[in-house]
Amino acid sequence: IWSNVEMGPPDAILGVSEAFKKDKSPNKMNLGVGAYRDDNGKPYVLPSVRKAEDIIRSKNLDKEYLGITGLAEFTKASAILAFGDNCDAIKNKRNVTAQGISGTGSLRIGANFLSKFYPGVKEVWLPKPSWGNHTPIFKHAGIEVKQYRYYDPSTCGFDAKGAYEDISKIPENSIILLHACAHNPTGVDPKPDQWKELSQIIKSRKLFPFFDMAYQGFASGNIDNDAAAVRMFVNEGHNIALAQSYAKNMGLYGERVGAFTLICESEEEAKRCESQLKIIIRPMYSNPPLSGPRIASTILNTAELRSQWLTEVKGMADRIITMRSQLVENLKKEGSSHNWQHITDQIGMFCFTGLKPDQVARITEEFSVYLTKDGRISVAGISSKNNAYLAHAIHTVSK
Ligand code: LMR
Repeated sequence: IWSNVEMGPPDAILGVSEAFKKDKSPNKMNLGVGAYRDDNGKPYVLPSVRKAEDIIRSKNLDKEYLGITGLAEFTKASAILAFGDNCDAIKNKRNVTAQGISGTGSLRIGANFLSKFYPGVKEVWLPKPSWGNHTPIFKHAGIEVKQYRYYDPSTCGFDAKGAYEDISKIPENSIILLHACAHNPTGVDPKPDQWKELSQIIKSRKLFPFFDMAYQGFASGNIDNDAAAVRMFVNEGHNIALAQSYAKNMGLYGERVGAFTLICESEEEAKRCESQLKIIIRPMYSNPPLSGPRIASTILNTAELRSQWLTEVKGMADRIITMRSQLVENLKKEGSSHNWQHITDQIGMFCFTGLKPDQVARITEEFSVYLTKDGRISVAGISSKNNAYLAHAIHTVSK
């Protein structure tokens, strides 16, 4: 019966890990998927996460089903982490926050809700480029996907003029997706005054802003700075949607911890939206998993653990920043004549190297360095031991 099913292509990001696993080279590097590694190239479980697990184990908790929108102490703390302690919308209970299956699942709940209830134009405008999974997430939910200019290849930076121009022409009442910080895949974020400008344009076009915040803490090492754009939009009166992920900032990748928030006009409106989110979630996966949000909630709601976690997030962000500057140094040592300043200018987990598809193919073939075809590298996958090797490989294919 499945003779009509065609072989599909491997996933643009996760397919890179599959190819990496098969490579026998002792020098191989996986810079594809955005997953943090320590300086020995090993996956890193945050000590605060280990402590939270110990606390949870010592409580001998049961494993009953969670409610459809998840663990209340987690969703409450998650909203506060994103919007801050002094957010009026949260204080006035204008938010509905539902636990999601990490960032992807949270985006998907939101996309399905918008597809069913959004009264405006069912088109989402993504930055060009955007995270590869954004397109199918919205398309599969029945929302059309369009793009606005975002990245300028000639400067390897933010194309402010192009973005303002394109966004000013988006049909009124459409949906716009924004990366809250540490834009994936480019590592290029608007500056605070550029965010202000974006907020004004988005308001005047009556667009609905949907923020994807997968890297809170990873851009600057400070969770409040990294949430500044989201908070500014809410202060400016935008009723936004937000998807959060704890994959990166708590290293809870496989635990699938995330949250979806809608900021509504009133508490009463939030209650109505919550009831419909439950109706969307229930037939998809009934109710969300328990273990991951227990860890996140224990960290967020225990003062001591929370401050330990913040130090650890900063430690991860700092190691990434160090790898960036070492890479630029090592490229200089190799004698590269290119300007690599964008490696240190770009922020967060990723660097958009500017390597072309044929150079990417070559660096994988000759050096066993794995990255996505668009030339994105996960800087978190570099260590002080293989930084020079990577510089040599980049120089060889780009000279
Ligand atoms: C990435 O972009 O590498 C991460 O967000 C992981 C993923 O799921 O694609």
